[in-house]
Amino acid sequence: MQSGYLQTYGSWESDPEAYWAEQAKAIHWFRKPERVFDPEEGVYGRWFPDAETNTCYNCLDRHVQTGRGDQKAVIYDSPMTGEKVSYTYAEVLNEVQAVAAVLAKLGVGKGDRVIIYMPMIPQAVFSMLACARLGAIHSVVFGGFAAHELATRIDDCHAKLVISASCGLEPGRTVAYKPLLDHAIDMAMHKPEHCLLYQRDQLHAPLHAGRDVDFETAVAAERQAGTKVDCVAVKATDPLYVLYTSGTTGQPKGVVRDNGGHMVALAWTMKNLYGVDPGEVFWAASDIGWVVGHSYIVYGPLLTGNTTIIFEGKPVGTPDAGTFWRVVSEHKVKALFTAPTAFRAIRRDDPDGDFVAKYDLAGFRTLFLAGERADAETIKWAEKVLGVPVIDHWWQTETGWPMACNPMGLGQVPVKYGSPSVTVPGYKIEVLDDEGHPLPSGTLGNVVVKMPLPPGCLVSFWNADERFRSSCLSEFPGYYKTADAGIMDEDGYLFIMARTDDIINCAGHRLSTGAMEEVCAMHPDVAECAVIGIADELKGQIPCGFLVLKNRVTRDAELIKKEIVNLVREEIGPVAAFKTVMIVDRLPKTRSGKILRGTMQKIADGMPWKMPATIDDPAILEEITAHLRAHGHG
Ligand code: COA
Ligand code: AMP
Repeated sequence: MQSGYLQTYGSWESDPEAYWAEQAKAIHWFRKPERVFDPEEGVYGRWFPDAETNTCYNCLDRHVQTGRGDQKAVIYDSPMTGEKVSYTYAEVLNEVQAVAAVLAKLGVGKGDRVIIYMPMIPQAVFSMLACARLGAIHSVVFGGFAAHELATRIDDCHAKLVISASCGLEPGRTVAYKPLLDHAIDMAMHKPEHCLLYQRDQLHAPLHAGRDVDFETAVAAERQAGTKVDCVAVKATDPLYVLYTSGTTGQPKGVVRDNGGHMVALAWTMKNLYGVDPGEVFWAASDIGWVVGHSYIVYGPLLTGNTTIIFEGKPVGTPDAGTFWRVVSEHKVKALFTAPTAFRAIRRDDPDGDFVAKYDLAGFRTLFLAGERADAETIKWAEKVLGVPVIDHWWQTETGWPMACNPMGLGQVPVKYGSPSVTVPGYKIEVLDDEGHPLPSGTLGNVVVKMPLPPGCLVSFWNADERFRSSCLSEFPGYYKTADAGIMDEDGYLFIMARTDDIINCAGHRLSTGAMEEVCAMHPDVAECAVIGIADELKGQIPCGFLVLKNRVTRDAELIKKEIVNLVREEIGPVAAFKTVMIVDRLPKTRSGKILRGTMQKIADGMPWKMPATIDDPAILEEITAHLRAHGHG
């Protein structure tokens, strides 16, 4: 390998603490770290335990003070509204101070939790940074989740305040957020004191007197008054945010990220993995509701003085499959990060890359893909039409930054299609069998990370240390369980093959089939059910529900199916993409009563499968196969 990768990996491995102490110099500390890692603190140890800092200061103030004030920090580009607005670092700092002043007046302070339920508009990013400025802990909830999911999060983190907007914009429909927000607050046991609501021109929402505050009116007053709000010093180990992600039940897991380690790790990745320098434009075409949005729309690029893009649109249909290339050429994007599903959609609409040819992409250097398995065909197509390296990389909400990547800044290593390449410095990845024994290279097993996790990874789940231990740390003592199954080859390349739990990846969105089963089971006509992820050409996977109705149900089956589809949409949200439902007589089970979801999934995907030795009644699998075939699967 010509790359500097091996040398950097070796340098980290020989002395991880010295390595991270060196990287920590890229961050401004109010109190510099004297200790790098304390193995006794927290669930598994804490990074930079004696340091103090502020993430907003590092993202904004520091750059303004060092001469970057006039550089564009944030570009908002919305093909949904036709708006394009740029904000310099100095302007973002002003906006964030105004929002922080409003939050402070509404009683938000260090350690308070603030839920942000907003579409992809600049005010969402300003709100995140304003929380960081005050040392408050934000929890962004993706706009595609419905009221019940929002209520669960409000209750779990005891949000003091919710920041929201009147609506989101999806192609062909306006998503009214306010009714969802009001319903969520009605449902929640814990009531937030205030809601700060940004009214968009497309839809005005009525405000609740006493509880709701108009975002723009309040912020404009502080902006005009030029109110300054100092950055609150927080401990490096204090939480910056809680981000809820799907777990193996309907109860989402609140991934807690700290301030200090998070900044050190993200700043390191911008140059070493993504290969971008300060001043360059970096675009993560994701949503701030996901971890990709947190790390690579907001914090990573701003920490290193890049320009970031808030894109409110879709890869296709807004207005066409050329929209990504318009944004790349217009805003001089150097590196783009998105999910493979976006490229499958673009390829479907523009198979010959005609739209690509319409734009000047001369300055564009690299395409990064993550969030789900990137199929070789899509990567090869993107390489061909774009003529730039296409880099698959692998990580998850829990880690917050890549675990496996082809490190463009350290030097690209040879590409192996189907692999997100090599282990990123900071992580030691192993593949173990179910008993925890190391497997030889080339063998499929549980992908685990040797503890301790590096800076920037989750420190625990919100108020749930025990759940963190039991779901991530206890099955393979000494390791963090990624819940992905994969293979490490003889050259150290990792291949991620599947999840080992009930999580599926639909259009790059992480969803729990267990949570969908819980909702289906709520329907009064359903006796039992199973939801599995089945292969989908565009979205990677889509959920598919199998329902067994109660004995005496005589109602129209089609109507029941519709009700259940609507129920999942109302309870979880449209993002669940739950549209495929089959009513079956019985579900295949083992003799001990476990539903054979894995076998059903293999049948659905047309993969080879073996009759499980413990199956109760083999005839049921034939019935399921017939149902799937009737729906064009298997
Ligand atoms: N607010 C409200 N609703 C939302 C939403 C949001 N922020 N995001 C998605 N939805 C809705 C969609 O409108 C859709 O609703 P519908 O059932 O009425 O059509 C539903 O949730 C499913 O969304 P999704 O699975 O994302 O499909 P899509 O039709 O919106 O987009 C692609 C299709 C192919 C363009 C899509 O796969 C894509 O590119 N998604 C973005 C991938 C991504 O950014 N992933 C983030 C990880 S990096
Ligand atoms: P999320 O927490 O939403 O980022 O989802 C993380 C999960 O998505 C991982 O545990 C994997 O199952 C899957 N995933 C993410 N990136 C990749 C990738 N490059 N290849 C295969 N699977 C991936």
